[in-house]
Amino acid sequence: MQNIDYLKKNFQSDLFLIQSNDGLEQLRIKYLGRNGLINQALRNIKNLLPTDKKELGEKANKLKNSIIRLIEKRQKELFIKTDRKDYFDATLPGKAYPKGSLHVMTLAIEEIRKIFEKIGFIQVSYPEVEWEHFAFESLNMPKNHPARDDFETFFIDTSPDKKYGKMILTPHTSSGQVREMLRTKPPIKMINIAKCYRPNWDLTHAPMFYQFEGLCIDRGINISHLKGTVDYFAKEFFEPKREIRLRPHHFQFTEPSFEIDVSCGTCLGTGYVNKTSEVGQTYAVNENVATEKPRRFKVRTSEVNKAKCRVCKSGWMELGGAGIVHPKVLKAGGINPDKYSGWAFGFGPERCFMMKTGLSDIRDLYGGNIRFLEQF
Ligand code: DAH
Repeated sequence: MQNIDYLKKNFQSDLFLIQSNDGLEQLRIKYLGRNGLINQALRNIKNLLPTDKKELGEKANKLKNSIIRLIEKRQKELFIKTDRKDYFDATLPGKAYPKGSLHVMTLAIEEIRKIFEKIGFIQVSYPEVEWEHFAFESLNMPKNHPARDDFETFFIDTSPDKKYGKMILTPHTSSGQVREMLRTKPPIKMINIAKCYRPNWDLTHAPMFYQFEGLCIDRGINISHLKGTVDYFAKEFFEPKREIRLRPHHFQFTEPSFEIDVSCGTCLGTGYVNKTSEVGQTYAVNENVATEKPRRFKVRTSEVNKAKCRVCKSGWMELGGAGIVHPKVLKAGGINPDKYSGWAFGFGPERCFMMKTGLSDIRDLYGGNIRFLEQF
């Protein structure tokens, strides 16, 4: 009898110490297993008097059932403790939340702003919801002018203003040009970095994108000032060995107008990269992409052959548009074109960033994928 009471006490203190399912299983085997303490006690029954046999048998079975119940109860408690979501274990170390960081475009824009700040350009900011007048008319693009088709535009559903026309989402930062001329007198050195909107969504276009617009107006300003400034920008933003070139183009608000390219960082403007090959091996150079048919060469001796640069394909990558501010635009801004002249450019920070990093899909920038974004 004493043996059973002793077992009961021992079990209670053993159970008290159990903190895991594994421990509970060990305890179950210790007491209820085939060679467990309960069975051992029952095996001893046969040596007892019949009356004692009965009493001990009953007591042992009672203890067995109560052990089963207590183990089940403890099992439930342990389950609640480990699996319930709202269980609070004050002894666990705290959760470390990952730190956020600025978006890649925010960083790129800040870099651009600083580059222009160094040479005295002031960052301004003008409305994203704009009047047609500032985005088009004042920039020498009257109503029905076909050039306006290039700036597919989002219109705001409100009644138009008599003087300024319809309300739109600004399709380019050039709408800040005349606003800046009306705000202040020359000399003007403006950098307008802002969101622009056009209804496009593909590899190289997003419906919301940034532009940065440079505008410089003073007496005697000419193309060499434009070249010098953009060259400085390319060397600062990309790397010092980069060159720029101007190609003639057409924009309504500049005359003459250009598109500006920057030399490719991989082939340095040559369009080809050196590639050492095995003697006897043939290689193809596609001189004229339009002919589709690449010319094939055979490698002689240990010559170094040229392969078309895959990054730019031509040696140069387009930065954006620029030119000498059209006299009509100066007039719209209240500036006398006989006294003052100026240059302007409009480039895309996304494009610059993609050219710098080799990224090929603009949608990656705005997809919100943390695993992509945290690389920068
Ligand atoms: N606004 C033009 C565009 O969005 C870019 C541009 C071209 C800006 C020439 C300029 C410029 O300031 O002179 O395509």
